[in-house]
Amino acid sequence: MSRIFSGIQPSGELHVGNYLGAVKNWVQLQDRHECIYCVVDYHAITGSYQPDDLRQRTRDMAVSLLAAGLDPDKCTLFVQSMVPEHTELAWILNTVTPLGELERQTQFKDKASRQESVLAGLLNYPVLQAADILLYRAELVPVGEDQVQHLELTREIARRWNARFGTQFFPEPQPLLTPTRRIMGLDGQTKMSKSLGNTVGLLESPEAVWQKLRPAMTDPARVRRTDPGTPEICNIYHLHRAFSDAATVEHVAVECRTAGWGCIDCKKVLFESMMAQLTPIRERAAELRAHPERITEILHDGAARCRALAQDTMREVKTWMGLA
Ligand code: TRP
Repeated sequence: MSRIFSGIQPSGELHVGNYLGAVKNWVQLQDRHECIYCVVDYHAITGSYQPDDLRQRTRDMAVSLLAAGLDPDKCTLFVQSMVPEHTELAWILNTVTPLGELERQTQFKDKASRQESVLAGLLNYPVLQAADILLYRAELVPVGEDQVQHLELTREIARRWNARFGTQFFPEPQPLLTPTRRIMGLDGQTKMSKSLGNTVGLLESPEAVWQKLRPAMTDPARVRRTDPGTPEICNIYHLHRAFSDAATVEHVAVECRTAGWGCIDCKKVLFESMMAQLTPIRERAAELRAHPERITEILHDGAARCRALAQDTMREVKTWMGLA
C-alpha cells in the first residue's frame, strides 16, 4: 500500500465543488491506500484572516470532511498546526529551494499581483506544502490540476535535498489527478468558489439548496420553454453527471435536446439526485456536531499518529544534516 498525503485549506464547510473535485476521491482512496489528510491552517495564515474565524473554519472543515466520509478507522485526519514538525521541515527545505522557482509559481504570481505588500510567507507557501508531503515520505498526492506546479516543485526540492546529503531518503511524490472535471458555480461562469459566492454548501438544508438551484444559470439558448437545449454547455447537466445515475443522465440529455422538459423540470430531478447523496452527509454532520468531544478526540488521535511519524523523519533528516 502506497502512502497518500493531501491537504485542504480551512475554508469552513465544504461545498459541492470541493466535495466532487477532491474530497469524494479522498474517501474512495482510504480503502486502497494508507491515507493522511490534513487541514492546512499554517497555509491559511499566508492570507489576511481573523484568528477566531480561522479556528471556526478549521473545525467546520474537519466536521465536513468526516461527514463526507473520511473514516478515522481507515485514514488519518489532523490539523497542520498540531504537528510542529511541518514548520521545522519547511525551514530546512527552504535552504535547498531556489528562489527563482518560488518566484515562477503561477499561484504566487497571481496572489502577489493582487497585494500591495507581498509577504515572505506567500512566497514560501509551496515550501511548506513540500514539507507537508515529504514529512510523511508520501508517494502519491491527490490534487487538482492547479496544484501540479507545486507538486513539481516538491519533487525538485526532494531531489535537491537528496543530492545535497547523498541519500535517497525522500521519494519523489507523484500527483494523483482527481478524475472529476472542475465544477462550475451556479452562475455557470467560473469555477465554484467560496470567495465568488456561487457555491452550494455540502451541509445546506434541502430548502436552501433548492433556493439556489431554482434560479441557477442553464443553457442561455433556452429562452422559451420550447427552445431545445445543448446539455454539454449546461452547468445543471454537469451536476447531473456528478450526482445522477447513468440512466437519468441519459434521459436528462434527451429531454433537454428535444425541449421535452423545461429547465425547472430538469432541476427538480437534479435536486432529488443531490439529496440522495447529501442527506446522509448532512445527517452525519449533525450527529458529529452533537458530540463535539468526539471531533476533538479524532483530531487529537490523528495529530498524535502524525507526530510520531514526523518525529521519525526529523530524526533521520537531522542525522543526515549534522543537526542536533
Ligand atoms: N495548496 C493546496 C491547495 O490550496 C493545499 C495543500 C497544502 C496541499 N499542503 C498540501 C495539497 C499538501 C496537497 C499536499 O489546495
